[in-house]
Amino acid sequence: MFRYCLPRTRGRLRVAMAVLLLGVAAAGPAQQALMPPRADPLITRDPSGWLQTSTPGGRIDKRNPFFRSLGSNGRSCNSCHRQENGWTVSAESVQQRFEATRGTDPIFRPVDGANSPLADVSTYAARAAAYSMLLERGVIRVGLPMPANAEFTLTKVDDPYHYASAKELSLFRRPLPATNLIWDTAVMWDGRETFAPFKPPMDAGIDMEDIRASLASQALHAILGHEQAASAPGSDVIASIVDFESHQFTAQYFDDGAGRLNEDNGMGGAAILAQQKFWVGINDALGNAPTTEPFDPRVIRLFDDWRDPDPSFRFDSRVWARAAIARGQQLFNSMRIEITGVAGLNDATGRAVIHGTCGTCHDSPNIGNHSVGAPLNIGIADASRRTPDLPLYTLTNLRTGEVVQTTDPGLALRTGKWADIGKFKGPNLRGLAGRAPYFHNGSAATLRDVVDFYDQRFHIGLSEQQKRDLVAFLSAL
Ligand code: HEC
Ligand code: HEC
Repeated sequence: MFRYCLPRTRGRLRVAMAVLLLGVAAAGPAQQALMPPRADPLITRDPSGWLQTSTPGGRIDKRNPFFRSLGSNGRSCNSCHRQENGWTVSAESVQQRFEATRGTDPIFRPVDGANSPLADVSTYAARAAAYSMLLERGVIRVGLPMPANAEFTLTKVDDPYHYASAKELSLFRRPLPATNLIWDTAVMWDGRETFAPFKPPMDAGIDMEDIRASLASQALHAILGHEQAASAPGSDVIASIVDFESHQFTAQYFDDGAGRLNEDNGMGGAAILAQQKFWVGINDALGNAPTTEPFDPRVIRLFDDWRDPDPSFRFDSRVWARAAIARGQQLFNSMRIEITGVAGLNDATGRAVIHGTCGTCHDSPNIGNHSVGAPLNIGIADASRRTPDLPLYTLTNLRTGEVVQTTDPGLALRTGKWADIGKFKGPNLRGLAGRAPYFHNGSAATLRDVVDFYDQRFHIGLSEQQKRDLVAFLSAL
């Protein structure tokens, strides 16, 4: 598990500085793999390579109100949605900000940055304790009430931070990427900002009005909530933010092992992603597609040509790194997963076992979210996975008396439905490398942990090699 440790982080920072200085002093051939192909403000460093954001104007307009503090606590959207972290934040970047500002950067505000809004934040040591969830997991405390007329009651609250109640459950959730948004079929982890119903248009392209309405509502609530504004900003401000975030695309562009991801018929990077064909329901595996085209399990087809290395290039290590990425893609697209016990899927289709793949749930071609709003419970919030740093809620079904424990009721806090407990959307899978940790509560510290989760949850039986190939692939998205 994570342990936020101040001295170790400082040490790590020093090492990083030394490596950087050395790299500049002696950039020989070995270092060249670490260099971006050209200096470009749209390309930023992440742990396994370089991440690219593509915008229509070819630059990021820092004058947009996305970057301006619009409330009372000094925060902007950019406090929690950063380019270099795929437009969310990584736990590591939050730790660096804590160190650099001694825990006073605007992301560190009691309202939802701290484990409890009542936490003592008066000293450095108090702040390190108060913001431990944000520092260790990169999560924000989303406070939501029990819905009226729910099919269940909250019968017990076990909150290590002594704050949560039926009036406001504390739900620790990762900021979602404020990029690649035009393909969102649900906005927020529980879809609660999916403002207008998404109609499946028959032609290619998404109905932009629907997604804009959702994003406008989301931005307004972010300004009033996260930024603690006393009143709503003008609609022109909201419109500029929505314009900004819905026109940017983000994906890994360069991999330290494999080099440029859009070379030699590779289709990685944000510029190609921006051209991606999409409509609501595209390639849906479960009968929600608006066209008669059958489901194509080859959901991600970015690296098809990298599978068989040309023997004449066998001394180029990039070729082998590329082959690993291509094998990972193959596993994602075709490795059999016996999907059982997933609420929203097995119960909805009446099939106890679905012979699926990763792409059954991540079905949007080359994007990887679900192409229809499909909140699913894959077990991330289950009591069995609870760690002592997370609150645990006991819910009792009013009709049947059944009892369930969960760290986050997910969709059920919106609908009040017993069947919706623990359901979350499957997020977009592009630009993953810069945005660890993963899952709604940041419970997977690395992509390897994500792969290990699936291996255990669905008893896949992956070999060490297969796990590494999957990680290489996910890191290149
Ligand atoms: C204090 C941190 C914080 C700030 C500031 C913040 N956000 Fe977020 N954002 C989050 C969190 C956490 C979530 C996920 C919450 C959930 O799903 O319950 C989120 C989700 C989102 C989403 C949903 C993306 C998706 O795919 O569903 C968008 C869009 C977004 N934020 C945009 C913004 C904008 C625009 C602003 C500024 C007006 C902003 N955020 C300010 C933390 C923040
Ligand atoms: C049964 C449906 C299902 C299957 C099968 C599935 N996923 Fe997921 N995936 C989800 C859902 C739902 C989430 C969000 C869960 C949460 O956070 O509570 C998710 C989240 C993720 C994330 C985290 C993204 C982020 O931003 O945090 C990654 C990475 C991922 N899946 C990769 C995979 C891979 C690789 C496979 C195949 C080994 C796979 N998934 C199979 C439904 C599925």
